[in-house]
Amino acid sequence: MSIQSTLNTLRYPVSSQPEKSPFNAGETLQEKTNTLNVLLLGSGGRECALAWKISQSPMLRHFYIAPGNGGTGAYGENVDLWPLDFQAIETFAKEKEIDMIVVGNEDPLVAGIYDYFSAREGSPLIVGPSQAGAALEGSKDFAKQFMVRHNIPTARYRSFTAETVEEGEKFLEELRPPYVLKADGLAAGKGVLIIDSLDEAKKSLREMLSGMFGKSSATVVIEEFLKGIECSVFVLTDGNGGYRILPVAKDYKRIGEGDTGPNTGGMGAVSPVAFADDTFMKKVEERIILPTVNGLIAEGITYRGFIFLGLIEVEGEPMVIEYNVRMGDPETEVVMLRIASDLLPLLDAAARGNLGDMPLDIDPRYATTVMVVSGGYPGSYPKGKVITGTDKCGDAILFHAGTKLDADGNLLTSGGRVIACSSYGADIDEALEGSFAAANALTYEGKYFRRDIGADLKAIERLRR
Ligand code: AMP
Ligand code: GLY
Repeated sequence: MSIQSTLNTLRYPVSSQPEKSPFNAGETLQEKTNTLNVLLLGSGGRECALAWKISQSPMLRHFYIAPGNGGTGAYGENVDLWPLDFQAIETFAKEKEIDMIVVGNEDPLVAGIYDYFSAREGSPLIVGPSQAGAALEGSKDFAKQFMVRHNIPTARYRSFTAETVEEGEKFLEELRPPYVLKADGLAAGKGVLIIDSLDEAKKSLREMLSGMFGKSSATVVIEEFLKGIECSVFVLTDGNGGYRILPVAKDYKRIGEGDTGPNTGGMGAVSPVAFADDTFMKKVEERIILPTVNGLIAEGITYRGFIFLGLIEVEGEPMVIEYNVRMGDPETEVVMLRIASDLLPLLDAAARGNLGDMPLDIDPRYATTVMVVSGGYPGSYPKGKVITGTDKCGDAILFHAGTKLDADGNLLTSGGRVIACSSYGADIDEALEGSFAAANALTYEGKYFRRDIGADLKAIERLRR
């Protein structure tokens, strides 16, 4: 029995009453067509990929993306709403009779969008955790404590504040380089420093504690450096013990080829991941997913949405580097391609607390994405460059990230990561060929992309053959 089918049959204690399923006994999906009004929050490549997938659902009636980008308008109506303005979202949701809000990025979740809406009678369902659950991403200290409480494998760590900075320095002396320092709070993906020299690490600890990342680094987590290869595992959970594991992906974080240079939001992604085989995934499920899902329930934390496990394989063993409480970007740009099932009923069921035995079918093909970015990213970069060549990208699926349309309908760059070029393939080479051909076909001043996306996984596959 595969891991996916095993987990589909597992049942756990119920912490809260699931809401009535939208499907009555005997009712089929066909009878539920054209019923849901959905609002998706966010504006990146991830949201463009979610929009692409959601828009294919027969269950969908009206679809809005707020604020969206130059690509999301192809799948629904872009709406000029700020994802953190809950009141404005509430007014819009009432006016448009929104049934479900899918939250793409972490900020509204950490700010409590789930709690805001679930406290209001007749409000839309929210796909995402409560504020207490979102602390798994919003506070690295909370996440580490949670992992310790539930025996989830992760790097040894301690947390420090300005009052305990000297103890922090002593802890650094106990560790071997490189030193890993993490701002406790959200820092737009920039709050992790990996430093080779002890003196530099001590200096950075003091700088972080005195506001390098504002309030986010008032507490700093120092942890042991783990050496291994990373992958991203995504779980959709209904908060009542039901969950599904989505296709595993690997992203490429550094700007330069060969994983060099500064960290970015992500330069590309591949799914499946050769080393995340059944043996590895069984360990992930038993040692990480089950204790996480059940730990949340045991602690009374409502969580009906995506759990993103940033994992590292250390000598065959999975360990957690981080939790995120939403899908990954650019992982979503490959994961959505590999979900063969209609996603909307799954989201609806998760948000109601009742995934039941709803199937999640996986497309066996490979999916890859190559992100084209603005020259200068992740440092400063120009915006407003005219993009051409979108009609020369063959079968690749273009997920817009930092783009916008001007009044004349020209497509312009408007961010660091511009477009994710996603492609299917019977194998990793074929998928990458499609992604790279599209990345080459797009033109705008300063375009850059990494030409080595997937190269490490290809090498691993060759070794395993
Ligand atoms: P995070 O925001 O916690 O995911 O950290 C960003 C990146 O830093 C991760 O994707 C890893 O590449 C790296 N990293 C974080 N923690 C560790 C660790 N304990 N050992 C090795 N690398 C780490
Ligand atoms: N690709 C990593 C992230 O979304 O945080």
